[in-house]
Amino acid sequence: MTTSNKITGDNNRVIIFDTTLRDGEQSPGASMNLEEKLQIASLLEEMGVDVIEAGFPIASNGDFEAVNEIAKRVKNSVVAGLARAGQKDIERAAEALKPAARARIHTFISTSPLHMKYKLRMEPDDVHQAVVDSVTHARRFTDDVEWSCEDGSRTEHDFMCRCVESAIKAGARTINVPDTVGYTVPEEYAALIEMLLNRVPNIDKAILSVHCHNDLGLAVANSLAAVSAGARQVECTVNGLGERAGNAAMEEIVMALRTRNDVMPFETGIDTTMITRASKLVSAITGFAVQPNKAIVGANAFAHESGIHQDGMLKNAQTYEIMTPESVGLNKSNIVMGKHSGRNAFRTKLKELGFELGDNALNDAFNRFKDLADKKKTVFDEDIVALVDDEMTRA
Ligand code: KIV
Ligand code: ZN
Repeated sequence: MTTSNKITGDNNRVIIFDTTLRDGEQSPGASMNLEEKLQIASLLEEMGVDVIEAGFPIASNGDFEAVNEIAKRVKNSVVAGLARAGQKDIERAAEALKPAARARIHTFISTSPLHMKYKLRMEPDDVHQAVVDSVTHARRFTDDVEWSCEDGSRTEHDFMCRCVESAIKAGARTINVPDTVGYTVPEEYAALIEMLLNRVPNIDKAILSVHCHNDLGLAVANSLAAVSAGARQVECTVNGLGERAGNAAMEEIVMALRTRNDVMPFETGIDTTMITRASKLVSAITGFAVQPNKAIVGANAFAHESGIHQDGMLKNAQTYEIMTPESVGLNKSNIVMGKHSGRNAFRTKLKELGFELGDNALNDAFNRFKDLADKKKTVFDEDIVALVDDEMTRA
């Protein structure tokens, strides 16, 4: 069973809801100023993000102003503001979103036994009433209301079904099921989505959404499993920025759906050639470096050092690359010269640098390059130029 997609009308289209500016910013040390948030929002809009969660308006005047300015400027993406299940929160979000061409109020409350008892100190019936009241109130301001059951993956199923059914009756058009603490695993999360699709009678009136945190390193895997089970909105952040171990990384979700469309036949509206720019912008603004071996956007994601790999790459890039660097906005793969590099890669690198050596000189230069590579982690182009110059002087 699948949900229909109310934004595009296409069953196989996955809505990308980016929360870099809200959940991403909740990462300790990642706070951004207004100008920085506007830069990121405009890049997200340009790259085709469907929904930009711009902030949590009641959290601070700065957050209110950021959501308000983004709402004024963004025209093609829906702009969302977060609100707890209280009238003041919802009204503050509505006020901030007033100028938006397309505004969404995203309201949430915890539904797990643990959160209801210790965090909210509320009884389940009172939480259920708050769901109805908050969604009903939010609908007074916009017909695009999203409701989230915080700590959804640890929520008791009967209670979740009851809350989801009531949220939809009250007017929620997106139902988001967060794995707030990154606790679930793919099979279990997919089963949760299927359970909702099978048990909630009016579920076809809403889009099911997923929001995964990465505490066990499973945020992307869980999100993709949920999509295969029928979810049609994925909440994510650029570079996986977010609280604790972060959120599902947008670039990984989008490229996985694109690269493995044979087994996950779903589309997004993202221009993937803008992924590298988005990653670099978020990293530069937040000061959060991207780890070199990070999938899709790490400095080594398209770099090859081993001789066998370099040789294969030079013959046919598909031998060791499952997507092209150009598809994510990089110019070309990077052949990194080091102690594992082979003769073929060395010859190609020399050509790139403008050198054509005869067989003997090439052998000599290659042996000297290997000696150097044993002493240095990476041999830079300048090292090779110096080495060849020396070789030519000697000849
Ligand atoms: O992780 C979470 O549960 C959230 C909600 C507010 C959607 O960020
Ligand atoms: Zn979250």
